[in-house]
Amino acid sequence: MALSAKAPGGLAGSDVEPQKDRVVTEEEWLRKWEMGNTGFHKEQGHPLFQKYLDALLNGRNGLRIFFPLCGKALEMKWLADMGHSVVGVEVSEQALKEFFTEHSLPYCEELVPEIPGAKMFQSTSGNISLYCCSIYHLSSSVVGKFDGVWDRGALVAVNPSDRQRYVSLMITLMEKNASYLLVTVSYDPSKHKGPPFYVPESEIKSLFGNHCDIKCLEKLDDFSDRHRQWGLDYFLEVLYILKFVA
Ligand SMILES: C[S@@+](CC[C@H](N)C(=O)[O-])C[C@H]1O[C@@H](n2cnc3c(N)ncnc32)[C@H](O)[C@@H]1O
Repeated sequence: MALSAKAPGGLAGSDVEPQKDRVVTEEEWLRKWEMGNTGFHKEQGHPLFQKYLDALLNGRNGLRIFFPLCGKALEMKWLADMGHSVVGVEVSEQALKEFFTEHSLPYCEELVPEIPGAKMFQSTSGNISLYCCSIYHLSSSVVGKFDGVWDRGALVAVNPSDRQRYVSLMITLMEKNASYLLVTVSYDPSKHKGPPFYVPESEIKSLFGNHCDIKCLEKLDDFSDRHRQWGLDYFLEVLYILKFVA
């Protein structure tokens, strides 16, 4: 991997400028699901999830774990199988139905009285509840608070102009002592318009830093043909753990 002076970690805040006005609408996300343009979905789950699961759980049982912008992430099934309660939110009903069907999980569907137009899909066993609506319609009075978060393809998928709003909402959903695993991506944002969007470490610190301790756990080279086709010459995933302090 040939890295220039502007390589991972070396990008300045102004380098995110090309992406700041980019907007992906909910309709565009729905269309990606309809057309099968879901290259972001990891069929085998995410390698960093398995590696750092202990950092999320910290030896605790029976946790409530939140999956923002969940898609049909396999990690929801894994955590439910371990006895945790999983709550997700996703605009695509197709994604949520595919999740239950692909794992042969029986589920029921109900309206959410507090959120006009929203539905909740719940496993019959009761420990997976997936809201079909925009995340911006959720609040702790509807979904409660969480002991843990798996944020992969979520903060980095949110439109840059909504990033502060997203983080402010996430902070209101955290229990004291919550652990938040956050996967971001690093690449040259002048070469790809996103999503995923490039969110530099300095911005992670300014968005969350007043509320939690932040530690970078790993930077993983994830460069593939997909990224080469986007015009990139490097692509990293960067994993942070955010520890909300009591
Ligand atoms: C990059 S994908 C990541 C999905 C999942 N986290 C994963 O790791 O596979 C982003 C997902 O967010 C959903 N989405 C986009 N905007 C949303 C919003 N405002 N509220 C809820 N879901 C949203 C999209 O439909 C899409 O499935």
